[in-house]
Amino acid sequence: MRTLRPVLVLAALPLPTGCANLPKGLDPAGPNAELISGLFWWFTGVSALVWALVVLGLGAALSWPRPVHDAVLPLERGRAGEITAMRVVAALVAITASILVVLTLLSFFAGRSLARMAGPEPLVIELTGHQWWWEVGYPGEEPSRALTNANEIHVPAGQPVRLVLRSTDVIHSFWIPNVSGKRDLIPGQVNQLDFVVEKAGVYRGQCAEFCGFQHAHMGLVLVAHPADEFDAWYEAQLAPASPPSGEEAQTGQKAFLSSSCVLCHTIRGTPAGGKNGPDLTHVASRRGIAGHTLPMTRGALAAWIADPQAVKPGAHMPRSELTPAQLNGVLAYLEQLK
Ligand code: CUA
Repeated sequence: MRTLRPVLVLAALPLPTGCANLPKGLDPAGPNAELISGLFWWFTGVSALVWALVVLGLGAALSWPRPVHDAVLPLERGRAGEITAMRVVAALVAITASILVVLTLLSFFAGRSLARMAGPEPLVIELTGHQWWWEVGYPGEEPSRALTNANEIHVPAGQPVRLVLRSTDVIHSFWIPNVSGKRDLIPGQVNQLDFVVEKAGVYRGQCAEFCGFQHAHMGLVLVAHPADEFDAWYEAQLAPASPPSGEEAQTGQKAFLSSSCVLCHTIRGTPAGGKNGPDLTHVASRRGIAGHTLPMTRGALAAWIADPQAVKPGAHMPRSELTPAQLNGVLAYLEQLK
């Protein structure tokens, strides 16, 4: 019983797939992830069957009654036994090879179907990897309808999407398990990933290629909207930032525009036009900040702006030089950027 205890404790732990807002590869939200999870179940099923048969065979071999007296077999019985053993081994090798061929074919056809997932007139989204956040660009039908977001990919459910993947620094890897498999973002190369999200919902993703100190804090979410809701989201995001209302927020806007914040961040509708960091025009409409390291709350924003290095050591955002009053103002201002 004592030896069994760690096994029982492990079995009693909740599976990570049951937790809220975690990537769930076995809960597919569209055909891409469905193909991959199907492949997973085939591989797991066949491997489990082989494992069970091997264990059964081993058990049978160990418990088989063996003659103890005739240590030296008569010549004829020895030869017959050898031939039987050779036949058994040959049959097992053939079965193993067939299983390998079948699994390889399954994998090949799933890969080919994934590569042919492109639908007609996909929504093109340009995803650019940065240490350690995601720039999400919508080229739009014309330049005036282009849009930039950060760390959140919004798509209409049921419509084909084409991600155009780039990186500005090192190799990152896009991975939202509910939606599709991984695809790398490589400096100097443009990759592409086509997928469809059938089920509306919010799906958590994560950079899946070690890209430096804060690789683990390079999260993103994909929000799949019903089609009309997506259009409303897009129109709202296209609008420039609303002017600050209230004295505190007005002080905050002044502090923001006169500080080094503007060198890296854009707030459309104001002179702030930096391109090194996320566009903040509608920052308060997002679900998280700092690559989804922190939730979008006033307290988290305060912690992040006051000392980003305490939250994400090595992040390219420097410590702010705002006074406490200015910081409160900036928080009030950013909170209004919905
Ligand atoms: Cu980006 Cu890991």
